[in-house]
Amino acid sequence: MSKVTVVGAGNVGATCANVLAHKDVVKEVVLLDIKGDLAKGKALDSWQQAPIDYYSTKLRGSDDYADTAGSDIVVITAGVPRKPGMSRDDLISTNAKIVNMVTSSIMKYSENPIIIVVSNPLDVMTYAAYQTAGLDSSRVFGMAGILDTARYRAFLATALNVSPKDIQAVLMGGHGDTMVPLPRYTTVSGIPVTEMIDDDALNAIVERTKKGGGELVGLMGTSAWYAPGAAAAQMVETIVRDENRIFPCCVRLSGEYGLDDMFLGVPVKLGKNGIEEIIELQLNEDEKALLNTSAEHVKAVMDVYNKM
Ligand code: NAI
Ligand code: 2OP
Repeated sequence: MSKVTVVGAGNVGATCANVLAHKDVVKEVVLLDIKGDLAKGKALDSWQQAPIDYYSTKLRGSDDYADTAGSDIVVITAGVPRKPGMSRDDLISTNAKIVNMVTSSIMKYSENPIIIVVSNPLDVMTYAAYQTAGLDSSRVFGMAGILDTARYRAFLATALNVSPKDIQAVLMGGHGDTMVPLPRYTTVSGIPVTEMIDDDALNAIVERTKKGGGELVGLMGTSAWYAPGAAAAQMVETIVRDENRIFPCCVRLSGEYGLDDMFLGVPVKLGKNGIEEIIELQLNEDEKALLNTSAEHVKAVMDVYNKM
């Protein structure tokens, strides 16, 4: 695989392109934005970093979809981010139009790309891109779970005073305040996290994780970009390297977890064909109830989209 397009050269898209270039796993990254000069400027700036940081991935900015022709993977970050006081769901009418327009433009120039959606509200924007693209559901999925799990892992690393490298965790559900971090599937170098932290402290971290995006919007006046951009780049790397890594991703469910024809975050195996496998965990009754509540929330936003 050699060509990746990142649509949206804003905070998340530009970060994703830059982090991806540093990984040096693809030949070319096209950064596309309706603000063509912004995309060209950020791509040129990133390319000028190559002699310093030693990578060969070429970066090109554009506002012309013809430049995306033959993309193997497309990351969609185009859209508006939320401002303080807004939920991700408040972005639906603006971002649905953008995501659908971007997806159909991409499909004119690339035959069978893998599409990774980042724009919010994530689960429903992934559903929109899937419907518009007409690709197999293994090739259209969303980035949120890697970011949300990273926040959970970072909070735990701080609380336990250990390296974040050693925290492994699973988090499921929609990309919103109903997301479901799973302490039962959280370990510190193989040690169950519950043996290292008391319930109250763990619950506080779970709650902080659920509102992790909002915490950053409150601090910065716009949403986060370093961890989101890096998370999307990590998905691209995993696909390009055909690593079969297991990550929580937003995917189309067809009966898994008792949920049908909707997009939701669940653990998957990610490889060269996109979603190689959806992994079904044996959730207990409490975990199932939390996942169903999150699914209901996503379905309500899907209904808003379907009626638009
Ligand atoms: P931003 O405002 O910095 O960048 C968005 C870019 O999209 C702008 O440069 C804008 O010109 C471009 N754009 C708008 N309409 C376009 C179109 N039709 N075609 C091409 N480009 C277009 O926003 P930021 O912070 O980069 O966030 C982007 C999106 O990602 C937002 O919807 C945000 O909510 C979402 N997000 C999702 C996360 C996740 O975990 N899934 C995490 C962080 C952000
Ligand atoms: C985040 O979680 C806003 O979805 C974005 O940072």
